[in-house]
Amino acid sequence: MNIIDVILDKRYGKELSDEQIQFFVDGVTDKSIPDYQISALLMAIVLNGMTEREMTTLTLAMANSGQQNDLSYIDGIPVDKHSTGGVGDKITPLVMPLCATFGVQSVKLSGRGLGFTGGTVDKFESIEGFQIEVPSEKFPELIDATGMVISGQTPDLAPADKVLYALRDVTGTVDSIPLIASSIMSKKIAGGAKAIVLDVTCGSGAFMKTPEKARDLAEAMIKIGNLAGRKTIAVITDMDQPLGRNCGNTLEMMEVFETLIGKGAPDVIEVASVIAANMIELSGKNGDLSGEALVEECKNRLTNGMALEKYYELILSQGGVVKENGGISYKTLPFEEIRITSPESGYITRIQADIIGNASVMLGAGRKKKEDSIDYGAGISFYRKVGDKVRRGDVLCSLSRGPEYMGDDAILYDVMEYILDAYSFSSEPIEAKPAVIDIIK
Ligand code: URA
Repeated sequence: MNIIDVILDKRYGKELSDEQIQFFVDGVTDKSIPDYQISALLMAIVLNGMTEREMTTLTLAMANSGQQNDLSYIDGIPVDKHSTGGVGDKITPLVMPLCATFGVQSVKLSGRGLGFTGGTVDKFESIEGFQIEVPSEKFPELIDATGMVISGQTPDLAPADKVLYALRDVTGTVDSIPLIASSIMSKKIAGGAKAIVLDVTCGSGAFMKTPEKARDLAEAMIKIGNLAGRKTIAVITDMDQPLGRNCGNTLEMMEVFETLIGKGAPDVIEVASVIAANMIELSGKNGDLSGEALVEECKNRLTNGMALEKYYELILSQGGVVKENGGISYKTLPFEEIRITSPESGYITRIQADIIGNASVMLGAGRKKKEDSIDYGAGISFYRKVGDKVRRGDVLCSLSRGPEYMGDDAILYDVMEYILDAYSFSSEPIEAKPAVIDIIK
């Protein structure tokens, strides 16, 4: 087989055979196909798309390109969740202990943040002592102890995706439903999940800017999941404004704790409970509860201390420090440096999530390049959200940094100016979009 023929077939809109797709993924993995030919085929896929069969074959070939996790030590059906990314997304640290209160065991493999999408690994790493790189041989022991383990992804999980993703990033080929769907699903399948709940974000802070686009991506991933024998559900969630009250690593983990002691933001509680309820149903550990009743029970357990007990177990089992009288110890405490006030009176109609995400990276909370270090204490806290009424001079949000990163005030002023662009106001009241827009099964 010749890679040029494969590129030409896709360029002229033909459906690729399973053999052609396998040949491509093998060549990506063993590096026998040069980057320029890989990139040419990626662009042809962006332009001409893929059928469900092609997407599924691509996904499975990528999943098979490296190690496959065997989660047979899990009691019940191994269920995983994945978010397509956003700003202030702290759902995983809430969903894991919440699911554990129902006896759902979970092995969660997560990534670091790159660009404005925060990474769950960085968030957990803001906790003093927490060990996020767990060798897979230790997973059964941790599952036995607490029912939960969270770890960074190992390089041998879907290595073909790593090559493709790095090339997509620099060739304008990230934004493509077949490529995003196969990238995400290959890692979930290689990670050992037998059932998957997808949090497909939509809005300014997400890959998919509209609910229609988010539905298209969700449906593609559900098709792949079902064709690959993994029951898959997608929850479409709003990412037009940041989720919850904070973005930035320590600030978000502090918000996780606040949520677990009953002081959470309504959007965070809603999204976490709906995702968890679907995971619990897929795992078959829902007992007599289903639908709305199960979501309500999730909301209770998330906020009444039951999930908090499990959260402490998770933190302690991976070396994190829990304070003697309760609460979590963090590496760096955020120091609030500047409060940004409203330039006008009215109702907030927009807090554009991508601007907020970029501002948070400028402050030091995220990475521009993979090698960059981050300030765990950096981030933004939202005093008011979309739909809230403000008077001129009221605090909209504040900027924080870790004490060891303070000093360069020029950045703070740049960020402040930039952030004000994220806000719009109206004299007419408006209602914020619902946090959960749709559930697709
Ligand atoms: N997340 C992934 O893992 N892959 C993509 O292509 C996009 C988001």
